[in-house]
Amino acid sequence: MIRFENVTKTYPKSTRPAVDGISLEIGRGEFVFVVGTSGSGKSTMLQLIMKEQDATGGRLSVAGRELDRLPDRKVPSLRRQIGCVFQDFRLLPNKTVHQNVAYALQVLGAPRSRIRSTVPEVLDLVGLAGMEKRFPHQLSGGEQQRVAIARAFVNRPPILLADEPTGNLDPGISLEIVQLLDRINRTGTTVVMATHDFATVDAMRKRVIRLDNGVLVGDVEAGEYTTGSIPRIELDDRPIPTRAPEPAVADGYDDGAPTGAGSAAEADPAAHVDDEAPDGERQAAAQGSGR
Ligand SMILES: Nc1ncnc2c1ncn2[C@@H]1O[C@H](COP(=O)(O)OP(=O)(O)OP(=O)(O)O)[C@@H](O)[C@H]1O
Ligand SMILES: [Mg+2]
Repeated sequence: MIRFENVTKTYPKSTRPAVDGISLEIGRGEFVFVVGTSGSGKSTMLQLIMKEQDATGGRLSVAGRELDRLPDRKVPSLRRQIGCVFQDFRLLPNKTVHQNVAYALQVLGAPRSRIRSTVPEVLDLVGLAGMEKRFPHQLSGGEQQRVAIARAFVNRPPILLADEPTGNLDPGISLEIVQLLDRINRTGTTVVMATHDFATVDAMRKRVIRLDNGVLVGDVEAGEYTTGSIPRIELDDRPIPTRAPEPAVADGYDDGAPTGAGSAAEADPAAHVDDEAPDGERQAAAQGSGR
């Protein structure tokens, strides 16, 4: 369904590629997470698939089309094969839930009768039956994302791309949204989801593609976000001084003696280097989660 062959994307005026020699294949009906720290190339990879960006090297084939040879006039037909969902929902604020979803069919020239029958079906599928007349501002974030998913799926595209669809949602709602994407996947739609949401990735046990600086560094079936490097937070438990340094210290600096209730060891930043931590963990702690 999607095949990258040594695909590279270097943005104009950029010195290093955002996507760097990626080769991989995503089969029809797969559900794939794309993970990696901020700036690792996840969104660029999705934009290449929908031909919102053009690769600067290699070959990319999507839904039977060689994208480097696809004339501009055929891009709309490619896009009809691909539904897209984003972190910020991108709903039309002045249209109701029904109108937001119907609009996706109207622009494709679908007859009214089909719109009338299909929109309620898909709203039911995403769990929004009864909310057709609401406007986006009358919905929670999770509900807005359901509308966006309904809109992306109403045309039953063979591919659904989701770029951090849970980025603005709390963990419980995030899991519900990914479960909805999973249901859509089980209708046969190939789902590719870029995410930082390691709890969801770990819970779903799907294929995980990992990028680092544009390079493919991992591709694991039924993988975990935590494979390789868990984004860990090193807690800083040094006490925060509750009062200003003693006025007796003329230069405003104290003499290194602890000022609060903590011990000298607690005041020493070096004391917080955990010598027991394996290299991968320490590296992950240094990198952070990217958020
Ligand atoms: N339109 C653009 N023009 C120039 N450089 C870009 C553009 N979009 C992304 N980049 C650069 O390409 C690299 C990859 O960015 P990309 O947005 O694909 O990463 P990402 O993994 O999606 O990050 P995040 O997790 O923050 O969304 C980054 O160095 C970024 O600065
Ligand atoms: Mg991104």
